[in-house]
Amino acid sequence: MAYKVASQSPAKLILLGEHFVVHGSRAVSAALDVFVEGVLIDDGMGNIEISYLDHVERYDISRDNVVTRFVKFLSQEYDVDSTPSLKIRFNFPTSAGLGSSASLASLLTKLFHKMYRGEEPQKEVIYNFGSKFEEYVHGNPSGIDLSTVVEGGVILYRRGEGVLDRIDSLDLGDSHIVVIDSGIRRSTGKLVANVTYNLHSLPEDIRKDVIDLVDSIVSYGWSSIKEGDSQSLANAIKSNHYLLKYIGVYKPKLDEIVMGFMDLGGIAAKVTGAGGGGCIYGLADKDIVRDIESYFRGRGYWVYTPKIYF
Ligand code: MEV
Repeated sequence: MAYKVASQSPAKLILLGEHFVVHGSRAVSAALDVFVEGVLIDDGMGNIEISYLDHVERYDISRDNVVTRFVKFLSQEYDVDSTPSLKIRFNFPTSAGLGSSASLASLLTKLFHKMYRGEEPQKEVIYNFGSKFEEYVHGNPSGIDLSTVVEGGVILYRRGEGVLDRIDSLDLGDSHIVVIDSGIRRSTGKLVANVTYNLHSLPEDIRKDVIDLVDSIVSYGWSSIKEGDSQSLANAIKSNHYLLKYIGVYKPKLDEIVMGFMDLGGIAAKVTGAGGGGCIYGLADKDIVRDIESYFRGRGYWVYTPKIYF
């Protein structure tokens, strides 16, 4: 009988500083209590089944894509002669700013390590192998997505320096986070390249000022989070929102969602992750979260009120 192992990895939500983190600013990100789950079956068949929220894909290892490339890479690293089969289920939208590629990279590394080393991998192993997958998908990742899913909790991060500070929970009093998926799918790699192009179209001193400004906003937001001051965090979110608009990651539908969220009484909202589509997140008083959820769900959007995973 073929052996099986199972594991899971969380989604992530960038609260402040995405894109600018690729260029040196700090950023804040949280791991969420919604997961990609998987089972690895050591049957030598190389069959891959991936269930998304709205469809299922089935193929075998002979197909060339980022998943099969990573599975072949891990098979080599773990000296596996005949490729195992995988069953994966995403319980959150993919290619939508919630860290699906980092989460999948972490999950696949955990599954291979559990099956072929008989134990959970050390964090360093997930960083080492997972960053390979992130490079296939992103081209130029800052590393924040993988750090968030590996460390859990809420982190303050800088590229090249890693996790600068971390807390286990987010206590914002009566304010709650709400995540709304626009349903528009996009490529993180292309968006990172576009933003890099836009930033590099600016004179160097202005580019530096913009990145430094975001870094100050992130620092202000991080202090607000640690003090549980949701009004100051809301100010940081709004400022970050306008700078993300400035570097071109919004689409009319994303603007519509932000405006709808604010019209319903939300405190602040912005794109999360690479933008261009994907998810918006916002802060809202607990008394109106239900109204926001039913308004957007009624219009066919995936809406989620997360808890922090740590
Ligand atoms: C993607 O989740 C976050 C970006 O800042 C890219 C990165 O940091 O690798 C857009």
